[in-house]
Amino acid sequence: MGPREHPLSEPRRFWIRTFGCQMNVHDTEKVANLLHHAGYGAAGGPADADLLVVNTCSIRAKAEHKLYSDLGLLREWKAEAAGRVIGVGGCVAQQEGDAILERFDQVDFVFGTHNLRRVPALAEAALSGRRAVQTQASRSLDRFDLPERHPDCAGATPGRAFLTVMEGCDMFCTFCIVPTTRGREISRPAAAIVEEARQLADHGVCEVTLLGQTVNAYGRHDVRRGRAAATGTMPFADLLAQLDAIPGIERIRYTSPHPIFFDAELIRAHGELASLCPHVHLPLQSGSDRILERMRRRHTCAEYRALCAALRDARPDVALTSDLIVGFPGETEADFQETLELVEEVALVDSFSFKYSPRPGTRAVEFPGAVPAAEAQERLERLQALQDRLRFAAHRIRVGQTTEVLVEGPSRRGGSQLRGRDPYHRVVNLEAGEGLTAGARAPVRIVEATPHSLIGEPLRAGTQDGLKTGHGPADEMRRGEPSRARSMEATG
Ligand code: 5AD
Ligand code: SF4
Repeated sequence: MGPREHPLSEPRRFWIRTFGCQMNVHDTEKVANLLHHAGYGAAGGPADADLLVVNTCSIRAKAEHKLYSDLGLLREWKAEAAGRVIGVGGCVAQQEGDAILERFDQVDFVFGTHNLRRVPALAEAALSGRRAVQTQASRSLDRFDLPERHPDCAGATPGRAFLTVMEGCDMFCTFCIVPTTRGREISRPAAAIVEEARQLADHGVCEVTLLGQTVNAYGRHDVRRGRAAATGTMPFADLLAQLDAIPGIERIRYTSPHPIFFDAELIRAHGELASLCPHVHLPLQSGSDRILERMRRRHTCAEYRALCAALRDARPDVALTSDLIVGFPGETEADFQETLELVEEVALVDSFSFKYSPRPGTRAVEFPGAVPAAEAQERLERLQALQDRLRFAAHRIRVGQTTEVLVEGPSRRGGSQLRGRDPYHRVVNLEAGEGLTAGARAPVRIVEATPHSLIGEPLRAGTQDGLKTGHGPADEMRRGEPSRARSMEATG
């Protein structure tokens, strides 16, 4: 029985719950698109769904536990109506595979991170009572061979889209499970990426976020082995230049890069490519060389510092953000102090900070020197207090500047306010106004800073040069206020 023939509802409806990172959010979009192409419709929520998919994350224990508590609730959801189907995908599915089917009889199918294309067939088999697991890792480009965006499958935010350029990670940082759950690095041919970006631009997308576990490692294996011509990849900076040339693509972001894959060309691109946003999310993890070494990050603090300086040379107003881990095995108070110092020195505008979470299957689980939970918690709070101060300071410097906001939708502050992001990836709230719908780009003046966001006032169109490229403040600085540059740099 095909999806359309099922008696419960016409067409069958799906709902996907997503945990974890942007790659997972984008995988959810890919699965939704595949389901639309297979004749499914999107449900408004679990209550009117026939198929419920949980897209899981295993980066920290807390994320993994969410799946297990969710599955308990889903047992009740499934019992409420006949013919309901549950699928589990993502990083936990990749690792646990059969064990999930064995342990949870309410689950009908499990699919791995390389098996998204199998979801419609797995869901269909489940309707005939066949439970299955598909978690084969693949080194093939087939997984990128996905249908065009279905007309019913709108992106999460008008005007913005994710774009996969590479997947997998070969770095094996000692704390990280990603190389196991996402497999080996593989880069898509540039022509396919450019074509997808063109299609997105045709559909009104002006901002693309290039995704990859180590996104700026794009093409590195092919280039190193002299196989780039055969595989259709190229150095990451060249890919950025090709995307920059696409009419309609006004903002390019990428996440997450690894500090060791910034070459001179990529750094230079930040000063040269009009659409490359002045924001780099640059995971640091720790500000202690000793801990970086134990984490196997393959760079020193001095190298990180030099990279920040080089990016600022190329693009003085670049906003730097980061990921940080506290309480890694063996981290002393002195190591942690060094982290605080480096975060302050490089003036991170924002960061995601986490307590180290031991992940079975990674090297660090065997490391001695566990940091007591209370101590890790206390370090996390101190780090976050520092980040709050740095963020607020960076926000205050922005008051009076003009920028461009890509409107995302209603503000979380409520009322008639809208929320969007500027090129530095800062959240800007502004009063709703004519023509300001989700997906619109509005020139605004920053009138107020809050600890977590900015408040902007829309300007009349055409009152500000350089907004299209987000180069306004940078150009101001290039025109010669070098003495202010140091403080402006962190304005994101
Ligand atoms: N414990 C805590 N944080 C982790 N991260 C990755 N693995 C772990 C772990 N085992 C963090 C890193 C990474 C971000 C995505 O998640 O900071 O950059
Ligand atoms: Fe994990 Fe390190 Fe790979 Fe990032 S570079 S995904 S932290 S192993």
